[in-house]
Amino acid sequence: MTFSAPYPPYDPLDKSGFSYDTVIRRWPIIITSIIDELHNACHFLVLESQALDDSASDKKALLDEKVKEGNEVVAKISKLKYEMARDRVMDEIEDDGEGNRDVYNQELAKLGEDNRNTWFTAPWLFAECYLYRLLRSYFAVTKQWNNYDPFHSSKLKTFKQSGASIYKIATTIHDLEKRKGELIANPSKLQILFTEMVQMCLWGNATDLSLLTHMTEEDIKNLQTTVWEHLKGLKNARVDFVLDNAGFELFTDLVFADFLVTYTPHVSSVVFHPKLIPWFVSDVLPVDFTETLSVLSDPSNFPEADSSPESLEHLKSMVNRWKSYVETGVFKLSVPLDTPLGGGGEKGKKANFWTTPYPYWDMETLDPELVKYLKESGLVIFKGDLNYRKLTGDIKWPAWTPFDEALGPLAGAFPLLSLRTNKADVAVGVPKDVVEKLDADEESEKWRVDGR
Ligand code: F6P
Ligand code: MG
Repeated sequence: MTFSAPYPPYDPLDKSGFSYDTVIRRWPIIITSIIDELHNACHFLVLESQALDDSASDKKALLDEKVKEGNEVVAKISKLKYEMARDRVMDEIEDDGEGNRDVYNQELAKLGEDNRNTWFTAPWLFAECYLYRLLRSYFAVTKQWNNYDPFHSSKLKTFKQSGASIYKIATTIHDLEKRKGELIANPSKLQILFTEMVQMCLWGNATDLSLLTHMTEEDIKNLQTTVWEHLKGLKNARVDFVLDNAGFELFTDLVFADFLVTYTPHVSSVVFHPKLIPWFVSDVLPVDFTETLSVLSDPSNFPEADSSPESLEHLKSMVNRWKSYVETGVFKLSVPLDTPLGGGGEKGKKANFWTTPYPYWDMETLDPELVKYLKESGLVIFKGDLNYRKLTGDIKWPAWTPFDEALGPLAGAFPLLSLRTNKADVAVGVPKDVVEKLDADEESEKWRVDGR
């Protein structure tokens, strides 16, 4: 490590902070939901096995083994939940043959030297990343649950509830198509649209879709002017999205990426960076990326949405364009589309860093290849709250600290934009008088975490 921040990181020792609330309330809910998911899956496997006759003994043996392994995973997760609630020492991650295990175990050992290797005493960012890597190890060591994402069904379910916004956005994009020539000839109109696209992509990170209507903030506009000025100087550049959540947020990322390559002369390709393991519940895995395109291609996935025949057509033509972009390499993932969970060794190498527990300020030291790759980008867009926490180190910066200062040595390494709705205490780049006003007002005092 080269950079040492002048303030400590957030941790749950401060009971008034959001991290305490997460550790005592949110994590147990997430863990319990995985146990439920597994119980359910095992239940159906048992029924399937019982329905087989003796002629299918091989299949039966496989199913029975899967149930046995599933129950073993449940036992591990239940033990984890018990130990977490009692603030026990965090276990070493067992040898599952997958990436970053040593990284986590070494950091755990260091925390142990300061007696900070328990669930309530470790820095929140570390503990939360470790939790998802630990959970992954429980599945990775099995034979039959190795490629299982315990959050898959919840991601899909939420996505299927966002049909109304999806159709609305598809129609907006369709209307743009008619104005393509006019827009390309008139960059000031393009700038207004760009502003709207950034806002849509930003609010795609909100958990509450009704926030999509919050589109008039003056300060956001100022920021976007800066980004637009930067983009205007590019020609046929590559833009990178360090992705956050699957489902509706990924949809808005794709819409924004589509806008950049289809309607501006500045960008000609987009690389999307997914995660390799189930991560912070909703994050995009390679398989989610492919699935999103197929889910969007089948209107029966959005039964509750009030779609018209026109809007169905609009969505279809937009998604077909995205599919052709994927085929021709205009859109691509940082790793092969068929990268399995865990990364499959060399295959997933380019995505390995995103599931380490590290702040991004030492990216250059920790993953020089990745930084070299991102330096070729015209703009790197970091999506979501966790990326923001890692960009700023999840440190207790005074909120008026300049963003560049909080980035530490990463500042200036490559042009970057962070789009995040606030879901954690850390905040920087906010004028001091605004911070004081927000903190003082009862209506806004939760501004650091309320996602608004
Ligand atoms: O609810 C809190 C939390 O789990 C944070 O720990 C984390 O930063 C955030 O949610 C994840 O949000 P996002 O998907 O926007 O990165
Ligand atoms: Mg996320």
